[in-house]
Amino acid sequence: MSDLSLFLGQFLRRPSEIRAIAPTGRAAAAEMARLVTPQMEAVAEIGAGTGTITRAILATGLPPERLELYELNAAFCTRLAERFPGTRVHNLPAQEMVNVGRKGLDAVISGVPTLPMPDELQAAIVGAALSMMKPGAPFVQITYGPLPPLSEAVRARFGLSHRKSRRIWANLPPARAYVFRQSA
Ligand SMILES: C[S@@+](CC[C@H](N)C(=O)[O-])C[C@H]1O[C@@H](n2cnc3c(N)ncnc32)[C@H](O)[C@@H]1O
Repeated sequence: MSDLSLFLGQFLRRPSEIRAIAPTGRAAAAEMARLVTPQMEAVAEIGAGTGTITRAILATGLPPERLELYELNAAFCTRLAERFPGTRVHNLPAQEMVNVGRKGLDAVISGVPTLPMPDELQAAIVGAALSMMKPGAPFVQITYGPLPPLSEAVRARFGLSHRKSRRIWANLPPARAYVFRQSA
């Protein structure tokens, strides 16, 4: 089955978890992976879906053994494990990453749809990620809306500053990458 069919089929079953009708396109995936370098010791991608951002992360030259994937959807996890040997695929919600995977993450790349989530869930996800990340490491979040994909209250709670990429019109829907970092 093609990624598009798998994605659309899972979206129809679980629209509130997936929140997009198609996987991220190539240009937006490359923007999401822009800060990853082959020298990084450990990187996590959360909400990896069918792996379009995963492919862009690995295209940077990061060895697959240094990439952890967290994905809620079991069908997507099967696809990720087949397609990206060497990565560690966790069929778990991102907020449960604490003590599961590698600590000292150099970056977390997120396709989890945080924007429509309530503050408590956003905070659970970001808090879990930050507890596994090196100080000041980037938390990169894709979004389709005009507003930052983490609420003001969540940003204030964790002391996060952010910058945003240009809008990538070639994506369906047009997308941006936000890079959040915790101040020292
Ligand atoms: C909009 S899709 C993005 C998929 C992929 N990253 C892409 O760019 O094509 C959102 C993905 O996040 C997953 N997801 C939603 N909530 C999650 C959570 N709490 N933890 C991990 N994955 C989650 C969904 O199952 C879905 O695969």
